[in-house]
Amino acid sequence: MNEDDVDRIDRNRRHFLTVATAVTGVAGVGIAAIPFLSSLQPSARAQALGAPVEVPIGSIQPGEMVRVLWRGKLIFVLRRTDAMLARLSEEDIDMLRDPTSEVATQQPEYAANATRSVKPEFLVVEGSCTHLGCAPLEDFDPRPADNWPGGFFCPCHGSKFDFAGRVFKGVPAPANLRIPPYRFVRDDLILIGQDTGVA
Ligand code: FES
Repeated sequence: MNEDDVDRIDRNRRHFLTVATAVTGVAGVGIAAIPFLSSLQPSARAQALGAPVEVPIGSIQPGEMVRVLWRGKLIFVLRRTDAMLARLSEEDIDMLRDPTSEVATQQPEYAANATRSVKPEFLVVEGSCTHLGCAPLEDFDPRPADNWPGGFFCPCHGSKFDFAGRVFKGVPAPANLRIPPYRFVRDDLILIGQDTGVA
């Protein structure tokens, strides 16, 4: 790992603290609702067996990301900003290994689109690097001087992914981050682990 990688990880940690603080603040406002939401969730045993997981998304602000567990897997739910979505279409697709989601194992058919999502605003993606399974870090601030458009960075061996979880060329990860099955129950609630086969 070189000095640039160490700097980047430090920046990621600072960014994570910022986001975590913001999410904690939101959670504090809605604390009375937490027991109710918890009661809607399946039991821990059912979740371990693979039951779908409900995720309220109404309080996630643009640019914020929350993490949930489904089947023991880390799932990222990112509410993308307009700028993040714009960068997806501006990216040089020659820099991406699978820009059009041709590898069918990495997403349901309904997410094999330009934003790899059911609704462009929300990215729902497994937080597991397709190299050896480390959890990528968010590195959302673009750095044109480093030719970095913003996205996810895996600190283990340096793999990089964009705001749709598409992997860049020249890194160890062989494929895009995987999109789990999910569907919108309502505009403010998604269900991870269950879909209807269509967006
Ligand atoms: S596990 Fe992510 S780059 Fe190796």
